[in-house]
Amino acid sequence: MYATVSRSVFTSRFWSRGLARIRESKLSTLAKKTPTEVDTAVAAEIAGIAACKTPSKEAEVGPRLQIVRVYRWNPETPKVKPYMQQFSVDLNKCGTMVLDVLTFIKAQHDPTLSFRKSCREGICGCCGMNINGVNTLACITKVKESLQPLVIYPLPHAYVIRDLIPDMEQFLGQFHKIDPYLKRPGEDDFLGMRQILQSPRDRSKLDGLYECIMCACCTFSCPPYWWLGDKYLGPAVLLQAYRWVIDSRDMAHEERLAKLRDFYSVYRCHTIFNCTKTCPKGLNPGKAIAQLKRLLAGLTKKEKPDIETALPNPCQSEQQYLSRKE
Ligand code: SF4
Ligand code: SF4
Ligand code: FES
Repeated sequence: MYATVSRSVFTSRFWSRGLARIRESKLSTLAKKTPTEVDTAVAAEIAGIAACKTPSKEAEVGPRLQIVRVYRWNPETPKVKPYMQQFSVDLNKCGTMVLDVLTFIKAQHDPTLSFRKSCREGICGCCGMNINGVNTLACITKVKESLQPLVIYPLPHAYVIRDLIPDMEQFLGQFHKIDPYLKRPGEDDFLGMRQILQSPRDRSKLDGLYECIMCACCTFSCPPYWWLGDKYLGPAVLLQAYRWVIDSRDMAHEERLAKLRDFYSVYRCHTIFNCTKTCPKGLNPGKAIAQLKRLLAGLTKKEKPDIETALPNPCQSEQQYLSRKE
């Protein structure tokens, strides 16, 4: 009771003093309203800064012109042969990457220029093209100001759909052939219903493989793929094949290897390492193919997983599985 009374007294005193202080400060502000000499000087300075126009970087350095030569072909005008179109781009007006330059050309010079792009940060793998003779991703390749022109072609030895857009149908068909997903024969009913365990050591075997974004820069830099692309799977797909073969959670490695054991699928690789040199993600498909060849030849064997995930017994928790299935 005492505490309640004293708290209410305290609160009312606090508010009355607080209000009194606010009133005092308002009165003092009104009293101070006449500007002093200092106020006038500060106001004059602020007005001067606002009026001052900072010269733009562009005006300081002038335009940074770069010649860009781009491969053009339009299937709607089949009688016009492919040609190189030249643009002069002011690098001050666009971003720093080749993809920015192409986007600028499309916006400011020629809206018919066609190319693929999506993530603009080296993740989706769709902006692969040949830039100054190197297969790479346009979105993570910096433009270097140079007297030499920046020359951009679609990925070499690929059929062209239009301008810088290569036809990826064969490449993706081959990727589909290697079954790029987890296979655990006999466990189909339980996939997605529980965790499949993997030790850190087994997980580390996937490093340098899982980062592949299927941009196909390596595949279209591989000479055997240029000549035998319909039979030889090429470095990107083989790197993915190896990734699934050595995954400790996958139980179909024998079946996967059997599919690759023919004259063309793997053995057309001559270990030239063009693929490794060009990979924009810094991966080593040449090494993955060499490991795959060793597995195929029986020189190495897939290790047993450090942790086995036991088959679930649906009878023990029938209700749980039934509800998840529903
Ligand atoms: S290995 Fe490299 S170059 Fe080849 S598809 Fe994967 S990310 Fe692209
Ligand atoms: S190492 Fe093999 S896959 Fe890579 S570029 Fe050479 S031949 Fe092609
Ligand atoms: S736009 Fe996605 S990798 Fe270049």
